[in-house]
Amino acid sequence: MAYVTIPFVDLSFQHEPLQASIEQLWRDCIAQGQFILGPHLAAFEQAFAEASGVAYGIGLASGTDALALGMRAAGIQAGDEVLVPANTFIATLIGILRTGATPVLVDCDPDTALIDLNAAVKKITPQTKAIAPVHLYGQLVAPQALKDFAQSHNLLIIEDAAQSHLAHRDGVTAGSIGTLAAYSFYPSKNLGAMGDGGMVLTNDAEIASKLRAYRNYGAREKYIHQEWGTNSRLDNLQAAVLCLKLPHLRAWNIARNQRAQEYTAALTPLPGICPLANHSGLGHSYHLYVIRVQPPLHREQLQAALTEAGIQTGIHYPIPCHLQPAYQFLGYQPGDFPVAEQLAAEILSLPMYPGLTSAQVEAVVAAIRDRLPQ
Ligand SMILES: Cc1ncc(COP(=O)(O)O)c(C=O)c1O
Repeated sequence: MAYVTIPFVDLSFQHEPLQASIEQLWRDCIAQGQFILGPHLAAFEQAFAEASGVAYGIGLASGTDALALGMRAAGIQAGDEVLVPANTFIATLIGILRTGATPVLVDCDPDTALIDLNAAVKKITPQTKAIAPVHLYGQLVAPQALKDFAQSHNLLIIEDAAQSHLAHRDGVTAGSIGTLAAYSFYPSKNLGAMGDGGMVLTNDAEIASKLRAYRNYGAREKYIHQEWGTNSRLDNLQAAVLCLKLPHLRAWNIARNQRAQEYTAALTPLPGICPLANHSGLGHSYHLYVIRVQPPLHREQLQAALTEAGIQTGIHYPIPCHLQPAYQFLGYQPGDFPVAEQLAAEILSLPMYPGLTSAQVEAVVAAIRDRLPQ
């Protein structure tokens, strides 16, 4: 393995300035002995909901739980169908399947990799209950088009906002479009904890109340279990970290966006390199910076050359959901989602994180340029 000069993600820029405060808060938490459903959780739920312009936040154990429990709280159940892009992280599907509902996969737009609403229309049946758009890589699915689509087909919108904390498009912030939105605070997310974590944002008081019960064994009052439940709570130590990070999130998103603009300006003229389109300007939170690699370049060769040059890259995601071994029972075949399949073969995620410098972006671009036929 070559020496890494530019990592894919580097969290030290976020953590170094906050480390002393995090340690102090954690010491305080230890002294207070409040680890579960503690004061930092309530503070973070309120702060993140407010920042996103949504009424309620319910902290949960992970983004996957946020999807699964959120959909359950919204009334999605066995017999229902939920529209979902074929090219998402598998957790979106897992969330739907955990309610007992059936995920109905939809192809995506080749320019943005976001769900193609024209393709989604063709998948609607009398059982379709919801659409689960994924604001993939940090870009929102066009909010008005999404609302019009859901309204005209009488569908709930469950936003998978795991990659789009405080991203916005056309004046609309992630999490404020649908019935509810699910977030992940996995460490490398735009807003990341130091462990697993998730949240549902919703304007619906009843859904919020159900989720508070679901995450706590179905109890609204201790030892009285009036409904279904599980154990899924964002813990107080993680919430304390997230509270400290949240005030920096907008600046971190802007820093990502600026580096993305530099990548795009430098890479767009190169033959064989096609950055995904940004239709949301500064509102794109660039959880990932993704290019398509086409002839005369070859994705695997380019990735190997970058690795050799000490530049880490990723592929998000190399196998679309319908071709994953565990989900063959859904009955899809190769060729069912040609755009998602082509993207899976061409996409490459370049280093992206707040703290990435312009000089590092230039070094990545130079290494790509070196691979072009002379
Ligand atoms: C689009 C998407 N949905 C859902 C999840 C699941 O979140 P978690 O890992 O917190 O369960 C993730 C991230 O891991 C994600 O990227």
